[in-house]
Amino acid sequence: MNNKNEKISHRSLGIISQIAYDVSGIFLSDKKADLVISRLNKRLRENKLSNFEEYCDLIQSNATERSQMIAALTTNVTAFYREVHHFNYLSRLVEEKFIRRIQDGEELRIWSAACSSGEEVYSAAMTVSEVLMGSPSAKIKILGTDIDTNMLKKSKIALYDLEEKKSIPLEKFNKFCLEKEGAFTFKREILELVRFNPLNLIAGWPFESKFHAIFCRNVAIYFDKLTREKLWFRLAQRLHVGGEIYIGHSERISNPELLGLRPVGLNSYKRVK
Ligand SMILES: C[S@@+](CC[C@H](N)C(=O)[O-])C[C@H]1O[C@@H](n2cnc3c(N)ncnc32)[C@H](O)[C@@H]1O
Repeated sequence: MNNKNEKISHRSLGIISQIAYDVSGIFLSDKKADLVISRLNKRLRENKLSNFEEYCDLIQSNATERSQMIAALTTNVTAFYREVHHFNYLSRLVEEKFIRRIQDGEELRIWSAACSSGEEVYSAAMTVSEVLMGSPSAKIKILGTDIDTNMLKKSKIALYDLEEKKSIPLEKFNKFCLEKEGAFTFKREILELVRFNPLNLIAGWPFESKFHAIFCRNVAIYFDKLTREKLWFRLAQRLHVGGEIYIGHSERISNPELLGLRPVGLNSYKRVK
């Protein structure tokens, strides 16, 4: 049976869009019908359903399928050292602003707030490890969170295709990575710095702590203006004064000064008060 659905009714699109918005903040306009069809056809097949009406009945009654739907609707594209300027800013930030405090015992805390399969987290770990090479007792914690638990599993396993090796400068690869079973992973000193937990950015955050740097890149593009602005406000509050937030190349924080932030580079803001 060929059960590829090419059409979705206005009603089904409305139900799917509303649930996506309520659960994850993802905003799907009417123009996204083709994307919804192409991303969700696989979910229909896996659930042996023949049309989107039946799929709407399922997601209204089944929380697990709602999560699968969100995972299918979002893109997980990422890469090691993606938008590399942010890792240069992070390196400068630690070296120029926080190194003394860290050497005096403060834990360096970095948050990758929509980490997908973990590349951003491991890139940050390699970056700060290089800066703090001469401070072996430095305490470092890099938290990766995402709404998509399948991606978090990949992040924790930390086994990457050799194809991705080319995004990592060779001297860093040699210093921090290990080839394993036709793939590569990270040395223990890097794996020990990272933690991964599920977290929905539009729901409550189960920790109170502040961070020296936050990466929140290429996720707010899915949200509407109100959800984005609330997110920037909440993230700004989680930065130490002097800390920096890095956002995606097509994202922007309007009126950063109202949040105590000042632009400090490409898609980067420093908390100044
Ligand atoms: C394009 S990836 C970005 C990965 C990485 N930050 C980067 O820029 O390379 C977007 C990620 O946002 C996650 N996401 C979407 N909605 C979310 C939400 N409400 N809370 C947390 N993560 C979310 C998706 O699961 C996906 O892994």
